[in-house]
Amino acid sequence: MTNLEFLSQRFSASKLTTPGPNTAQLDAILAVGARAPDHGALQPWQFVVMTGQGLERLGEIFAQAATLNGHDMAKITKCRQMPLRAPMVITVIAKTVKHVKVPWLEQVQSAGCALFSMQQAALAQGFSGIWRTGDLSQDKYVREQLGLNEQDEIVGFLYLGTDQNDKPISKTIDLDKHVTLWQ
Ligand SMILES: Cc1cc2nc3c(=O)[nH]c(=O)nc-3n(C[C@H](O)[C@H](O)[C@H](O)COP(=O)(O)O)c2cc1C
Repeated sequence: MTNLEFLSQRFSASKLTTPGPNTAQLDAILAVGARAPDHGALQPWQFVVMTGQGLERLGEIFAQAATLNGHDMAKITKCRQMPLRAPMVITVIAKTVKHVKVPWLEQVQSAGCALFSMQQAALAQGFSGIWRTGDLSQDKYVREQLGLNEQDEIVGFLYLGTDQNDKPISKTIDLDKHVTLWQ
């Protein structure tokens, strides 16, 4: 497969199992993430890599958030199990600062690019993944537990592992609807 084919055939996978990336593979993924475009060289991101008990810890945070929000036991249990849907989750936090030239949005976008680059780096090594957010990424308790300041954002939870399905969700892409040529 050419590089272009690799990029144009990318797809996400939600049914993920072991194996996940090993230490060397993870290091490569993180190094790619840290090469994200970054106005002002602020490196406005934090990557929290969760495996094993780290996934359970995130699940407990999600469950506690659901409890505090008054959800029923079924929903609380579901939230507790969410991070266990993959052998690895990289939580990407945009750690933003006030900057005279680089607005908040650009810093958050940069962290988003880092997340997507890491998904690509995982795919390039034979893994699969999915970028997830949901209500919990905006939740006050979850934000506190992950150490966010007021101006920070959880840009997403990157679930990584081995695809159990190994085929993309079929979708039609009509580029003409999205592309305008000025010539
Ligand atoms: C910012 C962002 C947040 C997302 N959050 C979720 C999510 O919480 N749950 C989910 O199932 N998909 C979520 N997605 C979509 C998936 O990552 C994925 O793109 C989608 O399932 C389409 O699959 P594809 O990437 O193969 O086209 C999100 C995507 C983005 C860019």
